[in-house]
Amino acid sequence: MRAMHISSDHPQLLGIVDDLANQGWSRQAIFLPDALTRALAVECRRRKAEGELAPAGVGRGQGQEVREGIRGDHILWLEPGQSEACDQYLALMDSLREALNRDLYLGLEDFECHFALYPPGSFYRKHLDRFRDDDRRSVSAIIYLNEDWRPDDGGQLRLFFADGSEQDVPPLGGSLIVFMSADLPHEVLAANRERLSVTGWFRRRGNEPF
Ligand code: OGA
Ligand code: MN
Repeated sequence: MRAMHISSDHPQLLGIVDDLANQGWSRQAIFLPDALTRALAVECRRRKAEGELAPAGVGRGQGQEVREGIRGDHILWLEPGQSEACDQYLALMDSLREALNRDLYLGLEDFECHFALYPPGSFYRKHLDRFRDDDRRSVSAIIYLNEDWRPDDGGQLRLFFADGSEQDVPPLGGSLIVFMSADLPHEVLAANRERLSVTGWFRRRGNEPF
């Protein structure tokens, strides 16, 4: 795969910044290059097969517990230096972080992200991404890795806006959704096939609760 560097002045990143400023969220139907989407999907499935993904917990730190009635995905946190595909994705998100900081003064210090695999039938109930005891998560960013996703596969991300309206976003491979973590309640509807993503959060500096 060719090394990729996207400048923080790239028009698509500036478009995301504008959307966030104007409406608190942005969707890019085509964001990742196909080769990178495929490489991330292959890596996610391989690491799932190797037993590296674990059922996701709800809550934070010691209060965390697995509750399949709330969320049924399996996750694996990404670390730099593990694969070329992950490093390329992290570099891309770092360019987005720079653009957000430069134009919106968000003071985003880092980006944490995990692979997420939803087995068929699993879901994530309506929630906000900001924890009550940790308000560092500021901007949520989700990349979908699903090839040939069809409307009857389900698995939409449902967004709940302040004016009472809703929007369903299909998890199409290579697409990106970004939103302000504290402001936008959302849920993941059940799909009838495996649903893959990389989900991440840009975080402000702050104090670890404990
Ligand atoms: C999450 C989440 C949405 C999605 O992991 O917090 O809301 O579409 N994911 O995968
Ligand atoms: Mn969420």
